[in-house]
Amino acid sequence: MSKIAIKIRLMKVEDFTAVVRIDEKVTKASRADYYHMKFETAVQSTDHLPTSLVAEDQDGKLVGFVIGDLYVGEYGITQKFATLETIGIDPDYQQQGIAKQLITEFMNHLRDLGVRKVSTLVDEDNAKMTHFFKANSFTPSKTINMERSF
Ligand SMILES: CC(C)(COP(=O)(O)OP(=O)(O)OC[C@H]1O[C@@H](n2cnc3c(N)ncnc32)[C@H](O)[C@@H]1OP(=O)(O)O)[C@@H](O)C(=O)NCCC(=O)NCCS
Repeated sequence: MSKIAIKIRLMKVEDFTAVVRIDEKVTKASRADYYHMKFETAVQSTDHLPTSLVAEDQDGKLVGFVIGDLYVGEYGITQKFATLETIGIDPDYQQQGIAKQLITEFMNHLRDLGVRKVSTLVDEDNAKMTHFFKANSFTPSKTINMERSF
């Protein structure tokens, strides 16, 4: 359990500014364009089911979020695979189990929608995120991310 009482709910378009603010605090970079793109898919698109969640404190302040992606086909059939695109917890609220609660809710929600597997991409050198996902029962996948530089 987290030290503070939090409420978890589905992400709304109005959460954009607070999500970008948390990401800026966490990554020390401004990624508003990235989040514009992510919100279009995760929150506004009719081809994707809403899966993204936010955590609020008792005063309604947004303290964390998880963005997922679940595509539904032409006939409204939910895919068996979803992705966890990004997760962020306000540094002032970390180490209190909030991310764990968000992931648990996120996974339960996806399982209820019929999803069988959730994947995410983590930089091999990012020990903090690798540790975090392993601690939350994610295991390295057999798929290798291939790339070619110019
Ligand atoms: C990784 C991240 C999501 C973790 O968020 P968090 O809310 O601190 O995570 P949790 O609190 O659930 O777990 C973190 C640790 O706190 C511990 N913890 C949980 N509740 C606790 C409590 N009440 N008291 C003390 N410790 C606690 C957990 O056991 C865990 O310990 P561990 O690191 O030894 O495994 C957060 O640090 C973050 O946003 N990082 C940046 C993410 C990022 O870079 N995103 C962009 C790319 S995806």
